[in-house]
Amino acid sequence: MDVDIGNALGTTPGLTEETLERLDDRVASAHERIARGMDADEFGYASLTLPETTDPEAIREATDAFETPSAVLTVGIGGSALGAGTLSDALPSDVDAYVLDNVDPDDVKRLLGSLPLDDVVINVVSRSGTTAETLANFLVVRDAMDRAGVDWTERTLVTTGEEGNLRRLADRHDLPALDVPEGVPGRFSMLSTVGLAVAALQGYDVEAVLAGGRDGMDALSGSLFESPAYAYGATTYALAERGALTNAVMPYAESLETFAEWFAQLWAESLGKDGLGQTPARALGATDQHSQLQLYRAGPRDKLVTVIRPTERAEVPIPETDLEGLSYLGGSSLGDLLDAEFDATEASLAEAGVPNVRIEVDRVDERALGELCYGMEAACVLYGELANVPTFTQPAVEWGKRAARGLLGGGEFPEADAVAEKRELR
Ligand code: PA5
Repeated sequence: MDVDIGNALGTTPGLTEETLERLDDRVASAHERIARGMDADEFGYASLTLPETTDPEAIREATDAFETPSAVLTVGIGGSALGAGTLSDALPSDVDAYVLDNVDPDDVKRLLGSLPLDDVVINVVSRSGTTAETLANFLVVRDAMDRAGVDWTERTLVTTGEEGNLRRLADRHDLPALDVPEGVPGRFSMLSTVGLAVAALQGYDVEAVLAGGRDGMDALSGSLFESPAYAYGATTYALAERGALTNAVMPYAESLETFAEWFAQLWAESLGKDGLGQTPARALGATDQHSQLQLYRAGPRDKLVTVIRPTERAEVPIPETDLEGLSYLGGSSLGDLLDAEFDATEASLAEAGVPNVRIEVDRVDERALGELCYGMEAACVLYGELANVPTFTQPAVEWGKRAARGLLGGGEFPEADAVAEKRELR
C-alpha cells in the first residue's frame, strides 16, 4: 500500500512539511504506546496483532463442516458484518454472499423470498451476543428455514464471544461456533474469525488476507515518513485539527465500495468522541465526479478527499469507431479512462487548494485487501492517540442498543425510559 500525502501540503485547510516534521515526535511516542498495547494484548490494541494471532486452521475446521453452499448469509450488524462484506464485495466467488444487518421488514422479506434456503449457510455474528437486530433477524431466518422444511441447525455457523444469548443458543443446539477473540472491538475484527469465516466459505485465500495484514504490521514504525499507515493517520489528524472535519473517501474501483462503508464505520465510531472527530463521507470514482466533486472542490473549506485505486485493473479495450467526435476513445481502455478521471480529480482538487491524499494498492486481491484494511486500522489507532480520544469505545452506539432492547422489554435500561418519555411528549 502506498500513501502519497503531497497534495495535502500547502492547501486550505492545509499543512506544511514542517508541521508534519514537528508532529513526528508525537507519532514516535504514539507508536511506542501502540506497540506496548500490542505486546500486552490490551483491549483494542490487540486488534493490531490479529494478522499473527488469528488461526486460519480453526476457521477452516469450522467452515469445512459445511459442503460448499451456493450462498452464505451473514446475519450481523456494524463491525460484525462490514469486514466480511468488504472482502465479499471486492473479490469474485462462485458462492454468493449476502448480509442481513438492518431490520427493515420489506428488505428481509424480499431477501428471504429470493434465497435458496436449503443451500445457504447462515453465518450469525455478534461479539456481545446480545444485539437486538442480529438476534431478531436470526430468529426470523431460522423460522423461515423451519417453514421451508430445512434443518437450520445443519446450516448455521455462529461466531460470538464467550457469553451472551447467542453463545447460549449455540450451546443449546450444539451449533458449530467460532470465538470472537478477546480485546478486539467489532470494527477492528475483520482480520479475525469475524471477518474471515465468510471468506473461507467463499473459497478466498484466508492466509493471503492475513499475510497482507502482516505486511501492514511490518510497515509500522516510529515515523510517519516511514510508515504509510501512520502517514495517513497523522495527516488526517493534522488536517482535522486545522478544520478538515470531513474526510471524503473515494475509491476508483466498484469493488471497493463496501470498503468505503467499512472505513466510514471505523473512522466515525472510533474517533467521534469528546466533540472531536472527522466525518467520513462515502464517494465512488468516477461516478461521484459527476455529483459530489463539485462540493469537494468549491464548497466549504472543511474537507479532505482520500482517493484510492488499484494500479492493475482488468483489460477492457474500448472498440475503435470512426464516428466523428468519438474516435478519440477507440484504442484506449476503460482502465485508461478511469485513471484519467482519477488524475483529473486529484489535479482539480489540488488546483483549487483542497487537500487530498492518494492511496494505491497493486491490485484488488486478498493480500492487498488485508494490507489496506490493516493500514487503515493502524492509521485510525494512531489518529486516536494523537487526538487523545478513547478509540476503542462506542458509548453512543451502546446507548442506542440498550434503549432499543429496553423498549422491546428486553430489560430495565434508563436509556429506554428516556426514549419512552420523549415518545409520550409527542
Ligand atoms: O464496532 C462495534 O463495536 C460495533 O459496530 C459492533 O460491531 C456492532 O454494534 C455489533 O455488535 P455485536 O457484534 O456485539 O452484535
